[in-house]
Amino acid sequence: MSGDGKPTVLVIDDETGILESLRILLKNEGFTPVLASGGKQAVEQIAELRPDIILSDVRMPSVSGVQVLSAARAQDPDVPVILMTAQATLQSAMQAVNEGAFYYIQKPFRNDEMLAILHRAAEHRRLRVENKSLRQEITRRERTAGTRPVGSSKAWVGVVQLAETVAPTESTVLIQGESGTGKEVIARYIHQLSLRTDGPFLSINCGALPESLLESELFGHVKGSFTGAVKDKSGLFTAAAGGTFFLDEIGETTPATQVKLLRVLQHREVIPVGATEAIPIDTRLVAATNRDLEEAIKQGGFRSDLFYRLNVIALHLPPLRERRDDIPLLIDWFLHRAAETRNEPVKQVSPAALELLQSFAWPGNVRELENALERAVILTSGPVIDVAVLPERITQRRAEPLITEQARTNPTLEAIERAYILWVLQSEGGNKTRAADVLGIDPSTLYRKLSRFGVEA
Ligand SMILES: Nc1ncnc2c1ncn2[C@@H]1O[C@H](COP(=O)(O)OP(=O)(O)OP(=O)(O)O)[C@@H](O)[C@H]1O
Ligand SMILES: [Mg+2]
Repeated sequence: MSGDGKPTVLVIDDETGILESLRILLKNEGFTPVLASGGKQAVEQIAELRPDIILSDVRMPSVSGVQVLSAARAQDPDVPVILMTAQATLQSAMQAVNEGAFYYIQKPFRNDEMLAILHRAAEHRRLRVENKSLRQEITRRERTAGTRPVGSSKAWVGVVQLAETVAPTESTVLIQGESGTGKEVIARYIHQLSLRTDGPFLSINCGALPESLLESELFGHVKGSFTGAVKDKSGLFTAAAGGTFFLDEIGETTPATQVKLLRVLQHREVIPVGATEAIPIDTRLVAATNRDLEEAIKQGGFRSDLFYRLNVIALHLPPLRERRDDIPLLIDWFLHRAAETRNEPVKQVSPAALELLQSFAWPGNVRELENALERAVILTSGPVIDVAVLPERITQRRAEPLITEQARTNPTLEAIERAYILWVLQSEGGNKTRAADVLGIDPSTLYRKLSRFGVEA
């Protein structure tokens, strides 16, 4: 509604006589009329004017009233459109009502009849607008208070509830899940709901650092313990005192580091690199991995005693393709977030785009969805995100057969991961930085994975 509370009515007719009489009628009744003598001119005005009601003749040269209707609805689905029709165009006006026109009125019309319809349209508009801002307010509040990670599927809610149950305890938690399933999101959520919430949440990616550096970060070091150790430095285990320490990609640690971690868990104390005295720690540990640790144990890549110490509470995050019901909610969440950060109106996805997004296999899980939407938002200037701005691998649906074909032979997760990574790498022309970006992982993680697969750099 326009600032002064008078509904703005865009009136479109190619007959100036009708325009003029409507102008007077509407004005006297407390509306703000804006006149357009052709459909083409009117369509251009809609975006800028944002009328509360559109009143349009059906038959006009160049652009018809029915075309005005579809142009208006594309820009603002909540604007009521009233069509004025002569006997000759009655059929198409009736048809237009089926397609979303608010009402049609036959020419010649009586003034009281016209005003009654306009008042109804204004009321309809007011309710729509009110409803919308109410809805927006609710979702905004849910989002800001809403620390609860998005998702309503049974599989996801089960995980979230378990996280809520264990959060206030001191138990060590091991979160397992494919890349991008929300392991860090859950780890932070546990911290937030824990009694340590006022303490720090510190994290480290165990896969990103070479062994010696990682150990010095984890446990600290004393001055002179190695070249470059110019003074004592405390480790993250001690820095996270009173809070939570998130050990990400714990499956990437070397056997030597694993022994030291085991010791920390057994004795609740750390020995800084080069030190002889142990320091007690007061830190809640949450670890995560996208590797199948049970499998890694079988192959000798992970210590089973460390696994059992970590796996006191086990959280298995389901991949996105096993909880597709959550996809519309996640889309909504990411689009609202994008709108808020970009200070723009919230965009929507077209039904066709939604269908593709919901049927894609999402090997990169929520992160891949998030990246696809971020890109789509940037590429879409209008209010509706359509298929054309989705990444090619989604629109071509090539990833899905790739995964399902492989799945028929029951390969390990790692085999699927390998196949997908190589496929993305290939479709990005061998460019590892771009491939890492598409996969939503750090380039260093990609290099490491490639070398694990035995692929030459
Ligand atoms: N349920 C959720 N609600 C909202 N955002 C989510 C949700 N799950 C994941 N995300 C978003 O998806 C992205 C990936 O999540 P996160 O970093 O927690 O995954 P991850 O499992 O740790 O991935 P990786 O194994 O690659 O480290 C993040 O940007 C996160 O904000
Ligand atoms: Mg992570």
